[in-house]
Amino acid sequence: QELHDLVVVANRLPVDAKTLPDGATEWVTSPGGLVTAMESVMRNVDSAAWVGWAGSPGEAPEPFRADGMDLYPVSLDATDIEKYYEGFSNGTLWPLYHDVIVDPAYHRTWWDTYVSANRRFAKAAAAVTAPGGTIWVHDYQLQLVPEMIRSERPDVRIGFFNHIPFPPVELFSQLPKRNQVLRGLLGADLVGFQRESDTLNFLASVRHLLGYQVDQRTVTVPGIGAVEPRDVIAGTFPISLDTQAVTALTDDPEIQERARQLRHDLGDPEKVVLGVDRLDYTKGIRHRLKAWGELLNDGSIDPRETVLVQVATPSRERVDAYRQLRDEVELTVGRINGDHAPIGRPAISYLHRSFNRRDMTALYMAADVVLVTALRDGMNLVAKEYVASRPDLRGVLVLSEFAGAADELRAALLVNPHDIDELKSAALRALSMPEEEQEEMMTSLRRQVLDHDVQSWAKHFLDELEAVGEPAPPSA
Ligand code: G6P
Repeated sequence: QELHDLVVVANRLPVDAKTLPDGATEWVTSPGGLVTAMESVMRNVDSAAWVGWAGSPGEAPEPFRADGMDLYPVSLDATDIEKYYEGFSNGTLWPLYHDVIVDPAYHRTWWDTYVSANRRFAKAAAAVTAPGGTIWVHDYQLQLVPEMIRSERPDVRIGFFNHIPFPPVELFSQLPKRNQVLRGLLGADLVGFQRESDTLNFLASVRHLLGYQVDQRTVTVPGIGAVEPRDVIAGTFPISLDTQAVTALTDDPEIQERARQLRHDLGDPEKVVLGVDRLDYTKGIRHRLKAWGELLNDGSIDPRETVLVQVATPSRERVDAYRQLRDEVELTVGRINGDHAPIGRPAISYLHRSFNRRDMTALYMAADVVLVTALRDGMNLVAKEYVASRPDLRGVLVLSEFAGAADELRAALLVNPHDIDELKSAALRALSMPEEEQEEMMTSLRRQVLDHDVQSWAKHFLDELEAVGEPAPPSA
C-alpha cells in the first residue's frame, strides 16, 4: 500500500459512481461546495490522497486514480446510508447546525451507525497516511474521525474543517451525544470554521458543556492517566474558489457565446435574474419565490422584460424535508408561471438538474442579478462564483446576511431574507442599478474574491496546522 503525506477525508469522494445503462461505471464530479473547493487544492499536492464514499450503496470499488489524486473509496451499505448519511448527518446535524430551520430528528438508532461509519473512514485514512503525515478531515458527517484517528495514529497531524455553520451553544446543547461530538472534534490539532461566529460558538460549547479551559483560541484537553494534556487550536478560515479556473472559463470564447445564446433562448429579455442552489431548505428558495411572486403581482416587474432563472440541483431526495421542499417549490413556480408567464415563455425558468462548470459560468455571465437568499449557509460559493465570473464588472449580487460570504462581501446588497419587503426592494434596486454603480460594486467584490482564492485558503489552514506543534514520534 502506498503511503501519502497528505490525506483528505470527506464523506464524498470528489467523484460519484454513475452506472450507465450498459452496466459500465462513469465517474462524475460530486455537487456541493466542499468538493468544488478541495478538488482544485488537491491537484496541486504531490502524493495526496482522498478517502471518501463513492456515492452509491454497497461494496466500495477498489482504490483508483482520478484527476491526479489517489482515491480510496469507503463503502456505505443501505443501513449506513439510512442512519449515518440521511439520518444522523442530514436529518439531525444538518438542520440543527442551520438554526433549526426545520426540526432536527433525534433517533437513538442513528447514533451507533454514525459512530461505526466514522470509524470506517478513520481506519481507511489511518492506513494510507505516511509516518508524520497530515490528515485533513472535512465536515459535519465526520466529526468523530479526528479522535478516532488520534487513538490509532498519534504520530500524524490532524486538521478538521467544518464547512457548515457551528450553532450557538443554546442550540448545540439539544444534541444527544453532544459531548461525544465535541470530544471527537478535539482529537484534531486544529479545528477550522468558516465564520468568526462559528469559531466562537464552538469554543463556547467546549467551555460550557465540557468545562475545558479555553484561552482565546486554545483549548486545553485534560490528560487522563499516562496521557498528557494537549492543546487544540480553533480558527476561522473562510473558504473560497479556484479563481484562476473561473477566469479560464470566462476567457473562453465558446462560453461567452453560450452566455449570449442563453439570453436569446430566454427570449432576449432586458434583465435576467438568477438563483443557483442545491434544492435545500437552508437556501431560502421559498422566500425568494414569495418575493418574486409579489413583485409580479404588484406589477413592479414585467415578465416580458425580466426573467428569473432558478437552478435547483437535486439533493438528498430520500430525506422527507427535501421531498416536501421540492413539492412546495414546484407548486409555487407552477402557480407563478400560470399567473404571469407570457405565452411561449416562462416568468420563472425552473431547472431541476445539475449543470457542469462551463454551463454554470455561462449562466453567471448571462445574469444581470444573482439572488442568494440563504436562511443560513456556511459560506455560499455561488456568491463568490458570480463575482469571479464577471471580469466585465457588470451585474449585481443580492446576498443574505446569513450566508458566511456576507462577512467578506460587504459591498453586495445585503438582505435579511426573512423580511420579504426588504428582499423585494433589494431586487428592484439591483434591477435598476446604474452601470457605474455596478462597476463600483463589482470592483470591490472582485478585489475580495480574487485576493483570497481557495489555494491561499488551503495553504493558510495547512500552515497553521503545521505550526501547531510537533506530533508524537511514530509508534514502533
Ligand atoms: C454541503 C456540505 C457537503 C456536502 C454537500 C452536498 O456543501 O457541506 O459536505 O457534500 O453539501 O450534499 P450531499 O449530501 O449530496 O453530499
